[in-house]
Formats: sequence, C-alpha cells, structure tokens
Amino acid sequence: MSAPRPLDRLASLKLRLGLLIVLAIGVTLATMVVAGLLDVQLRYGALAALALSLLTVQVVARGTTAPLRALAAAADRVAGGEHGVRVRVRGRDEVAQLGHAFNRMAAELEETDRIRRDLVADAAHELRTPLGALRAVLENAVDGVAPADPGALLGQVRRLGDLTDQLLDLSRLEAGAATLRRRTVPVTELLDAALLRGDAHVERDVPGDLVVHGDPDRLGQVLGNLLENARRHAPGAPVAVRARGTPAGGLRLVVEDRGPGLDPGDAERVFERFARADHSRTTPGSGLGLAIARSVVELHGGSIRAEPADPHGLRVVVDLP
Ligand SMILES: Nc1ncnc2c1ncn2[C@@H]1O[C@H](COP(=O)(O)OP(=O)(O)O)[C@@H](O)[C@H]1O
Ligand SMILES: [Mg+2]
Repeated sequence: MSAPRPLDRLASLKLRLGLLIVLAIGVTLATMVVAGLLDVQLRYGALAALALSLLTVQVVARGTTAPLRALAAAADRVAGGEHGVRVRVRGRDEVAQLGHAFNRMAAELEETDRIRRDLVADAAHELRTPLGALRAVLENAVDGVAPADPGALLGQVRRLGDLTDQLLDLSRLEAGAATLRRRTVPVTELLDAALLRGDAHVERDVPGDLVVHGDPDRLGQVLGNLLENARRHAPGAPVAVRARGTPAGGLRLVVEDRGPGLDPGDAERVFERFARADHSRTTPGSGLGLAIARSVVELHGGSIRAEPADPHGLRVVVDLP
C-alpha cells in the first residue's frame, strides 16, 4: 500500500477539482503579494506565481489521474482475455466507484468463463464413456469377433442423443439465454401434462383452483424430471405430489417418494450437473435432470432443495415466488 494521497478522502471529483482551483488561485495570490512586498518586478512575480501554482496542482492532484490510467490498462488486459485482473480502488469518488464497478464486471466475466469451460470439459468427459462403449461394440462387429445387436446399439445412440439434447438445454439455461414464456396456469394442468410423460403411481394433493404464473412447458419439465427420478430411484413405490399457495402469494410444490433417499452430503450435490449419488451408478441417467430443474426454477426466481422424507425416501421442495 502506498501512502494515502491528499485528496483521496474527498467523495466527489467535482469537489476535488474545485478545491484544486481554489488552492491554485490562493497560491498565485499569495506569491503575488509576497513579490509585491519584496519589490520584485511584476513579470518575475507572475512567473513565480505560475510556477508555484503549477507545482501545487502537480503535488495535490497526484493520484487523481493515476487510477484512470490504471483502469484503462486493466480494461485492455480484460479485453485480451485476462479475466483475473482487478484494479486497486482508493477513496470514494466517482473514479473509485468506476473502479468498483469494473472489478465487479471482471469478476462476473471470470465466473461466466469458468462456467463455460467447466461445461465443455464435463460434456466431453461424459460423452466419452458411452461413445467408447459404442465404438468397442462396432469394432467387434466389424472385425467379426461378435455380432452387434442393433436394438442395443439404437438404445445407446438414443441415450447419447438425449444426453446432448439435455446438455444443450442446460447450457442455454445457464447462459440465461432461455426465455420464459410466462402465463398463468392451473397447477393441476402442469401435473397432468407431466404425468403423461411418466407412469409413476402418483398420490396427488393439489387444489383445483391453485394457479402459478410461469412458463408451463418449463415448469412441466421440472415436474416431469422429479417424477421420473422418483420412478427411477423408487420403482414401484407410490409418489406424493403436493402443491400449496404460500401466504406471500407464492407456490410450494413437493414431490416425495418412498425410495432409498439420499445421504445428507448428496442432497445439495445432486443439483450439480452430472452429479449422481453412488447408489445410482447402476441406473441409467445423465445426472442432468436436477441441474436443469434448478436452472429453470431459478430462472423463475424460485429455489429447489432435497431433503429426507419420513421414514425414508426423498422429498424435493420447489418454492416459486
Ligand atoms: N428420488 C430420488 N431418490 C434417490 N436419489 C435420487 C432421486 N432423485 C435424484 N436422485 C439422485 O440424484 C442424482 C441426480 O439426479 P438427476 O439430475 O435427475 O440425474 P439422473 O436422474 O439422470 O441420474 C441421481 O443420479 C440420483 O443419485
Ligand atoms: Mg433424473
């Protein structure tokens, strides 16, 4: 840290400039007065006054332009891809505010860049495994070692297709590029649409007059994902879906199953993309469903969490504002 500069404590640039002008004039006047008392020729007095006031400005304003130069240099580096760059901010004036805003922007850029890189790396990693398996089967068939089973191959290819579709969807959601087509829909309508996609045995507790303002397709997708999970991880067991309005005018949706549930340590992690709890390593699935669900819910301004159900099973709670 270098020493604080004389004008750092002034909250506004205007105040600084004003003070600077007053100081310069004061120094000029004082020099002229002294020159007059000492009987110095007018032009030497004026020259001395000019030099002294320039010196004053130089000393006192030191540090007013330096942060701007630092900002310009930092902006150049960020534009060149160095998103880790931050400027050191001093004082509280407009330049300092600009510095804070710049740092926030750089941090945001850095985070977006990290998300993008992670997504690409995760996606490549997750695609590699099924592609490797597919390739082995086809190579064996080509070499005449073992005939390929077209049905099984088709199944694998379909899974790969689903995986890439989900990945695309997630990246659109995470980039905030997916727009919501909101309207007011009855919750029962959402549930009906979601149930068409799955055969979970559902005990529903949803008031017929309960409505939600949101994107019906997206919210249906969330419900469909939760029901599919319940069906997959708690096969054969009943699933309960409850919906209630909250006093604040929001909506709480609960999907609860009687399966094995999740370890407390996994309850938060499963919302990350490709995260899967150990017990489900053997079940098919991409690990993207809950990540997509969370993105959709957050786009609606809501939140989603998982908790243990009583006596066992998983309860997923969706809160929409
Ligand atoms: N109802 C549930 N009961 C137990 N575990 C669950 C349940 N729902 C999700 N999980 C766990 O969360 C993980 C992530 O879920 P999800 O993102 O939907 O991916 P996928 O269903 O494709 O595996 C699952 O792999 C599973 O381990
Ligand atoms: Mg799922």
